[in-house]
Amino acid sequence: MKNLFESDFLVIGSGIAGLSFALRAAELGEVTVITKKEQCDSSTNYAQGGIACVMGGNDEFSLHIEDTLTCGAGLCKKDVVETVVREGPALIQALIDWGVEFTRKSGGDDLDLGREGGHSRRRIVHAKDLTGQEVERALLERVRLNDRIQIYEHQVAIDLLFAEQSQGRRCVGVRAIDSLSGDFRLYVAGMVLLATGGVGRVYLHTTNPPIATGDGVVMAYRAGAVIANMEFIQFHPTSLYQKDEVSRAFLISEAVRGEGGVLRTLDGESFMQRYHPLACLAPRDVVARSIDNEMKHRGDPCVLLDLTHLQADFIKDHFPNIHKHCLGLGLDITKEPIPVVPAAHYSCGGVLTDLDGQSSISGLFATGEASCTGLHGANRLASNSLLEALVFSNRAFLKIASQQERFQRVAASEIQLDFPALVIDESFEAVRLRHCAEELVRTMWDYVGIVRSNERLHLARQRTKMLQSEIDGYFRRGLCSGSLVELRNMVQCADLIVRSALRRKESRGLHFNLDYPAADDKHWKKDTILTLKQSSSRNSGRGLS
Ligand code: FAD
Ligand code: SIN
Repeated sequence: MKNLFESDFLVIGSGIAGLSFALRAAELGEVTVITKKEQCDSSTNYAQGGIACVMGGNDEFSLHIEDTLTCGAGLCKKDVVETVVREGPALIQALIDWGVEFTRKSGGDDLDLGREGGHSRRRIVHAKDLTGQEVERALLERVRLNDRIQIYEHQVAIDLLFAEQSQGRRCVGVRAIDSLSGDFRLYVAGMVLLATGGVGRVYLHTTNPPIATGDGVVMAYRAGAVIANMEFIQFHPTSLYQKDEVSRAFLISEAVRGEGGVLRTLDGESFMQRYHPLACLAPRDVVARSIDNEMKHRGDPCVLLDLTHLQADFIKDHFPNIHKHCLGLGLDITKEPIPVVPAAHYSCGGVLTDLDGQSSISGLFATGEASCTGLHGANRLASNSLLEALVFSNRAFLKIASQQERFQRVAASEIQLDFPALVIDESFEAVRLRHCAEELVRTMWDYVGIVRSNERLHLARQRTKMLQSEIDGYFRRGLCSGSLVELRNMVQCADLIVRSALRRKESRGLHFNLDYPAADDKHWKKDTILTLKQSSSRNSGRGLS
């Protein structure tokens, strides 16, 4: 069959979740990694603060567990939290063994541990303020040296492929577009790992890179997988405020507050102690809502993050990336406070998995930001996501290693290929597509942001439905392109977020609705679950691929 790529394991995504799994799975067989832009285009590559992990000293597992549970506002799964926290240290060591160079305390071998909001101890393992770049560099280098791993760039996964076997329906691959050549390809394997990252690009202002369009979550949804907790979108309190809109908001790491940075209003008042006893180091949802409230009440476009009381050399040594970036824009953060605003940052929801990263679909695993494992509950504790990706990718590997007979390659003849053909067409009304994307991200920002209400959510639902029907129309006519695939995914993802937010009739963690300002443990101390019925998912799959 033309354009058929076969291997034992298929990984979609080349961030920390995908690459760390690939390195392990290569011990068992041949691994294919597909990624939709270049290898390092991932949120992982932009992570700043670091990886939360108990590394000794005055820290204890029980404290990290407690901090994670407190931050998660009643929705974390305790067994998951305990597992992630306890399995973390060995996986930090594995990263070091793979060549990641973390920052050490001066003059010694001890790891320099940073502090971030919601953490009761210093426990953030980091590489200055470029942790993600260092992790991505080392993992990619390791992958390139491994001849059992093949990475294909510019492959945009469209929809999952299935085989009907005696044990039932199993996910065995993906249909993708090569966005450079315009060819369609089928990637087939014994199992599929979705490691496609987050959804931040559905919002106008986001710290996320362009790849974060929620592709994996909605691919799984269309195929019938259980999706959970999509209303819990985390807004990072401090992204750099720039008057001109920029496509990616530059992050000012929470570690800056961890080292003493103070949030102030534009007239200089330090305001966070009015909102929370932990002041600037309160959990993220509290800090983001407090900033939002100050901006709205004062009519200010931003607040300030002030570091000027710290030694200039200390700032330059701890935050070289942030210092350099701001200096490039004419802002010397050793002398002037940084203007900051909240921006969409992280999705706590995603493909629901068990403790081994298995989704509700046989053969389909999900790890990293695309998954909802139960670690974060209603609000993620800072720097817990890189840790979660490491732990779950390792657990998925261990599961597969222990049941290899269940995840054997399938013969090409067993794959269901009953989808109608699509034609690549980059020329169709590009302006209309751009306007659809603009309308979507503005709608999500204005109506489904930090503070929500029933009225705003209903307005958002009407708009996302209209956009969805317009975009699906192109697919029904058999047209396709890499950017259209992403736009369709963004709109469907937005719809999942809005529907989940409408369903939760309370305020908890990252979801704050003015019409239900309190938490309601009696009715809502549970996950928000969305699924598409199998029959309709098959129909929608046919129309799309
Ligand atoms: P990603 O690293 O986002 O990788 C996703 C991959 O999937 C990419 O390679 C992408 O190209 C690919 N992909 C997506 N869709 C498709 C498709 N359709 N077809 C093919 N490939 C596809 N967390 C922390 O714990 N600590 C931090 O300090 C921290 N700092 C952060 C700073 C920033 C600016 C951002 C944006 C996030 C930060 N986070 C941090 C969150 C953390 O970085 C992410 O949650 C984590 O890196 C996600 O890893 P991942 O492997 O799941 O996804
Ligand atoms: C940061 O503030 O550096 C990001 C940390 C995170 O998102 O976990």
